[in-house]
Amino acid sequence: MKKVVNLDENHKDVGRSAQEQSFTMPFIGMHKTELDTPALLIDLDKMEANIRTMAAYFSTVNAQLRPHVKTHKTPIISHKQIAAGAIGVTCAKLGEAEAVIHAGIRDVLIANQIVGAQKIARLINLAKHSEIMVAVDNAQNVQAISEAASAKDANVRMLVEVNIGMDRCGVEPGEPALELAELIRKSPNVEFAGLMGYEGHTVAKPDKAARNAAAREAIQILVDAKHYLEKRGVAVPIMSGGGTGTFNITGSIPEMTEVQAGSYVLMDATYGNVEGIGEHFERALSVLATVVSRPAPDRIIVDTGLKVLAKEFGIPQPVGVTGVEMTGLSEEHGKLLVSDETVSLNPGDKLEILPTHCCTTVNLHDRYYGIRNGIVESVWEIAARGKAQ
Ligand SMILES: Cc1ncc(COP(=O)(O)O)c(C=O)c1O
Repeated sequence: MKKVVNLDENHKDVGRSAQEQSFTMPFIGMHKTELDTPALLIDLDKMEANIRTMAAYFSTVNAQLRPHVKTHKTPIISHKQIAAGAIGVTCAKLGEAEAVIHAGIRDVLIANQIVGAQKIARLINLAKHSEIMVAVDNAQNVQAISEAASAKDANVRMLVEVNIGMDRCGVEPGEPALELAELIRKSPNVEFAGLMGYEGHTVAKPDKAARNAAAREAIQILVDAKHYLEKRGVAVPIMSGGGTGTFNITGSIPEMTEVQAGSYVLMDATYGNVEGIGEHFERALSVLATVVSRPAPDRIIVDTGLKVLAKEFGIPQPVGVTGVEMTGLSEEHGKLLVSDETVSLNPGDKLEILPTHCCTTVNLHDRYYGIRNGIVESVWEIAARGKAQ
């Protein structure tokens, strides 16, 4: 979170605790290879290029960009996306919404169900300080949010989530979506703002034609649901969906008003291999590792294990080094198989690893080191890291 810095007459930063100052001060100006490891790096030029590329696309279509916070979990990056034209942000969790709203962002969609009295109380408190919107797919949940909002004189906008083939959350289109929208319309202190459908089962299909067909089929379900409601007198102002893999498919459908893409800003090896996506966006995220052991000519061990690199989408690989392949991760170790024994990587040497899943990798780290031309320009706390509640 960006903080105001107050300097006293000795240029000592009195606005932040010593602990906070030590968090950033020693690193600024260092070359990235001087950083201790494991360290999460953002190439700032690449991240800024990704923000510009996405903003340029959304200046050409009806839909607007509401980028997902779950990827970077860091308010300053949301502010950059909004400065480039995004209309607000999408969050998966209340904890993410709290982090960005406390950092001054007002227009927030929680694209997820907020269930249970404790969470609803937090949602209502946020609604007093923001223009919050939440996904719903259940009548009791609508009633519970409405009652809590009425008691606090708050207002909560709601998107009815429709199952468009991912079979995660969401009511079925047609009558079930209409019934929930009508319930919202007659409930106090909540407002029916539109429909949401996430075509998550299509976003990472590497083949462009297959992805295009699957995403269009899914979004058509949402478009049909909109027409069903409208024919029965229920206006549907917002139509929200989409991810990085479908930004220019879902984003090009005239009925869609908002796209929730998140990963594009940092990218990873998985989206990098998706045809039609990898070419548009730069890989801005990496994890800096140190070689801690070379016990055999064909084996290198680095200090980046499962606690700093996610592997559910595959084992991450080093960037810009040939003749080595990461073959396994244990808690604190990454194992590299050396196929070319002339590779001169020895204990103390550093290398960068490209994550295979940016969102879950970021969640393992406390801070980013923002790098430009190899030099640390900024250190950002990952404010919503671990905010799973
Ligand atoms: C509801 C929702 N919207 C949008 C996204 C888009 O994310 P990405 O940009 O990583 O494809 C996700 C990803 O999990 C999601 O769950």
